[in-house]
Amino acid sequence: MESIEPGYHSRPRNWTDDLASGNDLVDQQHQELLRRFEMLEDALKSGQAFAEVKALAAFLQRYVLTHFNTEERYMLAGHYPGSAIHSGEHDQCKRRIFQFKQFIETESDRKKIIAVAYSMLAIWVREHILNHDVQCFQYLKHRKKAEAAVDIDYEWSPESSKLWTPDFEIGIENIDTQHRNLVMWTEYVQDAESLSDEEIRQLLDFIHGFIVTHFTDEELLMMDIQFPDFEKHSELHYATRTKFFEVKEWVGQDLGAPDKRGMVLELFQAYVEHIGQYDTQFKKYFRS
Ligand SMILES: [Fe+2]
Ligand SMILES: [Fe+2]
Ligand SMILES: [Fe+2]
Ligand SMILES: [Fe+2]
Repeated sequence: MESIEPGYHSRPRNWTDDLASGNDLVDQQHQELLRRFEMLEDALKSGQAFAEVKALAAFLQRYVLTHFNTEERYMLAGHYPGSAIHSGEHDQCKRRIFQFKQFIETESDRKKIIAVAYSMLAIWVREHILNHDVQCFQYLKHRKKAEAAVDIDYEWSPESSKLWTPDFEIGIENIDTQHRNLVMWTEYVQDAESLSDEEIRQLLDFIHGFIVTHFTDEELLMMDIQFPDFEKHSELHYATRTKFFEVKEWVGQDLGAPDKRGMVLELFQAYVEHIGQYDTQFKKYFRS
């Protein structure tokens, strides 16, 4: 695994006050991104850029997952209305970094690689922060809301579960625990005779936040084990997250009282299927 060496610790020279979001953690992460960008600029001047570009790509792939997870958790907790668009931008960026890593491996023209790396970072870092992050955190600052916590009394165990099977166990504790929780929530919705709109809304908010972190953990795991279907698997995660936003929107509107519980159940069941069909494939790569 590549090490994530901290960059320069001074204030990045490209940092300007208009980039400050008002959230300290997010601002620190953005400064670290800018430092990386500046390391690349310096490497370009000293002729060492190619090695630097490769290290940068490896760093970015891990770093953006953590960073985007941070931002998305804040957006969900604060019920940020632009979070679907903002998360879509993040997914787009993750794809671009993935393509960039593949590009590095096949392109032999080093100058071309360096130019692409430079423009990718220059555009993305400044434009994304200015157009999306600052706007988002300014909004959240003015409208702080506690993260929805769902407190239910529901008895569940993997042994008595109708949906959980021992095949679902991957052997990685935090992923397995997250999967067990997701299956539990699915069965909870399945068994509930009726759920009020408010209960459904809270549950969706809670699971949405949960799943954002879960996907990040899985994507980091896939990187660590060099999972060959990383890109395909991530695409499935993006699709699930998009679906969450859609269902949340439907549930938020009262469209002649459609079967909201049914919609939520379908969404959750699709994810349980994802576990059985796709997540279990980590097992063999993890073991090797
Ligand atoms: Fe962002
Ligand atoms: Fe950001
Ligand atoms: Fe999963
Ligand atoms: Fe997954």
